[in-house]
Amino acid sequence: MNGRDLVRSMKAVGSAGAAQRLRTVRAAWRTRRADAAGLPTRGAERARVPGPMLAAEPGPGGGVLRFSRSELRITVAVNGAVFWGWDGAGPEPSYALAGRCPEPDPRALLEPDKDGGWRVVAERVTVVVSRHGAVEVQTPGGVTLRRDLPPRWWEPVGGGAGRWMQRSEVSADARFFGLGGRAAGPRLRGGTYRLWNTDPGRAFGPGDDPLYLTMPVQLVVADAATHLMFHDTSWDGTVTLREGEEGAGSGHDRPGTSELRMSGGPLRCWVMVGTPARVLLAWASLTGAPALPPAWALGHQHARWGFGSEQEVRRIVAGYQERDLPLDAVHLDIDHYDEHQVFTVDQERFPKLPQLAEDLRRDGVRLVSIVDPAVRAEQGNGVYEAGTAVDAFVRDAAGQVVRGEAWPGESVFPDFTHARVREWWGGLYGERLAQGFAGFWHDMNEPTSFTAFGESTLPRSARHALEGRGGDHREAHNVYALCMARAAYEGVRELAPQERPFVFSRSGWAGLQRYGGTWSGDVATGWPGLRASLSLVMGLGLCGVPYSGPDVGGFDGSPSPELYLRWFQLGAYLPLFRTHASLRAGRREPWEFGPEVLEHARVALLERRRLLPYFMTLAHLARRTGTPYVRPLWWGIPEDRALRDCEDAFLLGDCLLVAPVLDPGADRRAVQLPRGRWYDTATGRAYDGPGQILVDAPLSRIPVLARAGAVLPVRGEDGGLELEVWAPARGRTGGGLVVPDAGDGWEEPEIERYVVRWQGRRVVVEREGEDGVSAPPHPVRVRGVEER
Ligand code: NOJ
Repeated sequence: MNGRDLVRSMKAVGSAGAAQRLRTVRAAWRTRRADAAGLPTRGAERARVPGPMLAAEPGPGGGVLRFSRSELRITVAVNGAVFWGWDGAGPEPSYALAGRCPEPDPRALLEPDKDGGWRVVAERVTVVVSRHGAVEVQTPGGVTLRRDLPPRWWEPVGGGAGRWMQRSEVSADARFFGLGGRAAGPRLRGGTYRLWNTDPGRAFGPGDDPLYLTMPVQLVVADAATHLMFHDTSWDGTVTLREGEEGAGSGHDRPGTSELRMSGGPLRCWVMVGTPARVLLAWASLTGAPALPPAWALGHQHARWGFGSEQEVRRIVAGYQERDLPLDAVHLDIDHYDEHQVFTVDQERFPKLPQLAEDLRRDGVRLVSIVDPAVRAEQGNGVYEAGTAVDAFVRDAAGQVVRGEAWPGESVFPDFTHARVREWWGGLYGERLAQGFAGFWHDMNEPTSFTAFGESTLPRSARHALEGRGGDHREAHNVYALCMARAAYEGVRELAPQERPFVFSRSGWAGLQRYGGTWSGDVATGWPGLRASLSLVMGLGLCGVPYSGPDVGGFDGSPSPELYLRWFQLGAYLPLFRTHASLRAGRREPWEFGPEVLEHARVALLERRRLLPYFMTLAHLARRTGTPYVRPLWWGIPEDRALRDCEDAFLLGDCLLVAPVLDPGADRRAVQLPRGRWYDTATGRAYDGPGQILVDAPLSRIPVLARAGAVLPVRGEDGGLELEVWAPARGRTGGGLVVPDAGDGWEEPEIERYVVRWQGRRVVVEREGEDGVSAPPHPVRVRGVEER
């Protein structure tokens, strides 16, 4: 948070402003002092490279290559992912991995290669290591996807953790995606991206980097194949990317490059190669299946910082009801806490919260609670006292509990990298459940501690348990929110075992999807913020976190009616569909922008409700396959260069292509179509891809196209499941999967598989089962026949 924003937020919190300002100065000085005393000083360093290779020792799934100044361990795992680690680094311990590391693939063999190098040959990938420690990832056909040059370390002369650098080359046609939530993507152009979860301290736009949720995951899409490269190191670092150029300078290709510089931690990585779908499947099998949200979390949610009272919450909900607008959840921000203290309720403004929750629940509206990690450091605060009793809070190198500054004032921070602390914290959600909350919104968990200068987080020297290994904040910072999410998820699972926990978190790291999703954070109100919203959702999905969405309308200020509506229309097709805004921002209710916007917003809300079974199916498929709901257009056809560069539209599952309006004043837009036939769902008109088309985008709707042959599960007028089927092109067939979901709970629904084909002049839809085909158990509506 910079000075100006800090002053603004201080004003917002009222008379405590001046005192709090002083405390942020104190917090900054304390951080500086703690780090001066607790961090090793940077003195003389010694540079090192692996040196020449001396020996090779085959082992299960690969082997160990010894160099004169390092050793490299390579293992191919049964899920097809390849691990390698320098300096003896193994895959464990790791915060990213779900459970234990997968077994080595016994079929992968280490063999001598030319010029004194060695190679590991596996089913889907070959890894070639040169005599000096360059590592090449190749397709089984021998095409090089990535070449890592020998790494370089710089180590303190007196010993201790060193920093390192890994430079890599990818093919000239490759495009980079990922690195967590990035506002200027999803395609990551040349530039430096930092790996350090950061609250930008003000509403952000496409130019702001880093943001709240970073991770060292690169998804690289090239003609020859897609690969995902994950550097399993949570330390601070930077990635400098440069896209390649084909036929650059005298007709030669210039490769793309990535230069990763890490301030510490092991140099180890995982690589997955194949189609985007295969790569994400391997990634999910490594880092965990995305948690399945309850159905209501796929509906429309309304939040605001500063509802301020129960009456206001009831007024908003009534506003939705009176206008027949679907609403599934309301989120309460820190203003419902007693003086911003987590796990408390302001009894004056929210005297009957359980009653409110019950009344809303009866109308099908769930309550979601914000949860901040900072705990006010004051006797009398129950969480502080209980946490102190179990030694839950982060300490500095001298053993004192670290005090920072957050919304509740001077605060302490639980050390979520300790199993005992997670268990204690997870139990606190019992209080929230008793208040009637059904879901949890984790905020400020980068973690953020306001400081008047320097970084707005904990001192880097602060100590963390790191599951018993012990370490400091330099290593724990980026996994802090991940561990907090784990605490909540596991706690809530135990407290309410019949229900699916719903947790989403501002910050996180690789593996966050195991516990829940995320959201954009404080995206700036404006057309660039709208674009950034889509970039974040797509980029995060490609890093394995499929559930996210923006603050519809933007976090700050007041969107124009047009901007609000366009944001709303986009949000209706994103997994988390939530209106939210800051204390000082203008209204965000759909009826606050005039009758025209209200009518169009209603259409978007009703369409979202109609598509709920489809969203639920996508959630199940994400859990089983790691495939995100929201996918870039190139998802199924990564070799289509025009699609690879297209960032203003997306696929929602297999069936739909959504082309949001991202510019003011537009009433038509160009859409880059993947191959095959597509129907404009509004007009029914058919288009044949690949190619670019121009479609109408009146204020009343954004273009949504359905793939010919698609089977879309939708909610019928009576609330039951129906199948909306789009005619395949003549001579072709179609089909799809439907997962009928009970809405909550753990029962595994049976996946329904449908095939669609022409029979004479009719389109026939059949369910495929073990004992042959049968009629679908749901009403079917075929569309697109007349457009033939
Ligand atoms: C920052 C969050 O990003 C925002 O969504 C929230 O409203 C404020 N903190 C207040 O809790």
